[in-house]
Amino acid sequence: MTFKPIRKAVFPVAGLGTRFLPATKAIPKEMLPVVDRPLIQYAVDEAREAGIEQMIFVTGRGKSAIEDHFDIAFELERTMSDRGKDLSVLEPTRLGPGQCAYVRQQEPLGLGHAIWCARDIVGDEPFAIFLPDEFMHGSPGCMAQMAEQYQETGGNMISVLEIPREQVSSYGVIKPGKRAKAPLTEVIGLVEKPAVEEAPSNLILSGRYILQPEVMRVLESQEKGAGGEIQLTDAMAHMIGDQPFHAVTFSGSRYDCGSVAGYVEANLALGLERADIGADVRERATALLV
Ligand code: UTP
Repeated sequence: MTFKPIRKAVFPVAGLGTRFLPATKAIPKEMLPVVDRPLIQYAVDEAREAGIEQMIFVTGRGKSAIEDHFDIAFELERTMSDRGKDLSVLEPTRLGPGQCAYVRQQEPLGLGHAIWCARDIVGDEPFAIFLPDEFMHGSPGCMAQMAEQYQETGGNMISVLEIPREQVSSYGVIKPGKRAKAPLTEVIGLVEKPAVEEAPSNLILSGRYILQPEVMRVLESQEKGAGGEIQLTDAMAHMIGDQPFHAVTFSGSRYDCGSVAGYVEANLALGLERADIGADVRERATALLV
């Protein structure tokens, strides 16, 4: 059996980004660059690679730079072309007319609430979610790997990552079922930020989801969970048992760009990988270490 391809993606970008203050006082966290490309651009590129056509951004106050990023910068392009500069560097920032939609989350009440704010634009079809500060780097991209598995399983799907058990209490954690066929694991339970001794595994949610539209109805009446926020993890946990639920272990690298150290690591890793600047970055980084 094959399932309809996923057409829509939701990018919740309404968080306050307090861990990056003062950088994020006037600039959204999602616009921070890894080398020379903003985090949100990597996430949109990953979505496009997976065949997704419509990008839905859940924004908040002070996030207008994201809208401008995916718009045509007329003066910039005009000046560049008058000066004979290559405009192809701007190509990834172009989304076709009607391919992006913006909805506001007026108050940052949690990730689950942010997703629920997109309910009318998502409508009655399965959709993807990308947390842009979870930077998933690899080829094929994380969502493309998930979309391939989704064709076999349908239902709900999340990406997971194995981490040291003592770190699980900052994350959503899955309870794995018995059935597993790499890279798939059956999910029979989900818990947000458990105490280490109560965590059902060391497999954490890593910021990519394919969900059925029923999650919006669960979120509608969702109580606040961990941290006093409306948690997406709690809503997903309600759907286990009613619909297939699988986790995909991403084959690639993940950088936690929601944390400052993870963000610096991502910059270094991508800088080292780049054909144009990699050798130079290596030389400079090595000099710093001696
Ligand atoms: P985080 O937990 O990383 O929160 O949100 P944050 O506000 O972005 O950052 P810190 O912790 O204050 O530094 C995970 C994702 O969920 C979005 C964020 O924008 C981020 O992409 N989010 C979170 C919302 O859109 N709305 C919310 O109410 C909460």
